[in-house]
Amino acid sequence: MSTQQPEDVPAISDWSRLLAGKVAVVTGGGDGIGGAISRLFAQHGATVEIAEIDADRAERTLRDIEAAGGRAHAHVVDVREEDDVARLAKAVLARHGGIDVLVNNVGDYRPLAPFLQSTPETWDAMYRINLHHVFLVTHAFLASMIARGGGSIVNLHSVEGMRGYPGEPVYGAMKAAVAHFTTCLAAGHGRQGIRANGIGTDLCQTPQVDYRTGFEASEHLWPSWAPVGRLGWPEEQARVALFLASDLSSYVTGHNIPVDGGTKAGGGWFFSPAAGRFVNRPTGL
Ligand SMILES: NC(=O)c1ccc[n+]([C@@H]2O[C@H](COP(=O)([O-])OP(=O)(O)OC[C@H]3O[C@@H](n4cnc5c(N)ncnc54)[C@H](O)[C@@H]3O)[C@@H](O)[C@H]2O)c1
Repeated sequence: MSTQQPEDVPAISDWSRLLAGKVAVVTGGGDGIGGAISRLFAQHGATVEIAEIDADRAERTLRDIEAAGGRAHAHVVDVREEDDVARLAKAVLARHGGIDVLVNNVGDYRPLAPFLQSTPETWDAMYRINLHHVFLVTHAFLASMIARGGGSIVNLHSVEGMRGYPGEPVYGAMKAAVAHFTTCLAAGHGRQGIRANGIGTDLCQTPQVDYRTGFEASEHLWPSWAPVGRLGWPEEQARVALFLASDLSSYVTGHNIPVDGGTKAGGGWFFSPAAGRFVNRPTGL
């Protein structure tokens, strides 16, 4: 029996430039988790195509990348709009012919409406900001990835798509749909060289989700809020995205990884600093 690594296992020649020569599209790549992904991918040698609704955020990240010696281009687009996505794809494909990595990162938990107060209009808004654009952008680039011999798709969704989310079931359903779309894409296009994986985010400090302001008096409770005992940061999401986008994960596809400080794993149990033990029925922690 041979244990020799066959030629179809991609070789990693430079571990400090895991995306050298690759072209990556990052939606919402101007700030928050998307901004951290754009910067880390550029640091690892990718040319990053930032698809961002906010011109200032796009420009700031572009400047950061260029100042660090990386390569990027910014596109001011609303990925919910078909015409904008068509314009993005036209510009990117004209420049590069195809792409190697697609990160669908845009998403939002707002407008947050408890189900009984929600309406068909809020459901539609949830759909458009969390799911519809994942179809639109993937549809716009997938053929070019296949034509190039393959690539990696990384979809940011939420831990709320991987567990019961009592606060907003429509948001939870949209995120679960992104996770399952990811799994189905992987199953359908693996033989064409496409890998697809998702990230179920939780507890990450970003412009959208500010876990600090207004919670200063409760910082000591992090050990009861997350098994790792602290808040998470965009760079920590970006590192997992780098793993999934690069050949580090060449035999990983169809999976959804919670990047949540352990909240999915520890769901239902809370560490009580006062009691010094785990409780599943907190009475004030
Ligand atoms: N931060 C968290 O703790 C957390 C938790 C669960 C899920 N998520 C998910 O992670 C992803 C990133 O979240 P974040 O916290 O970094 O968000 P964020 O709002 O801080 O950043 C999103 C970026 O996308 C841009 N953007 C927004 N709408 C856009 C559109 N229509 N077209 C193009 N660009 C657009 C924004 O300007 C911003 O730069 C989202 O899918 C979100 O639902 C985040």
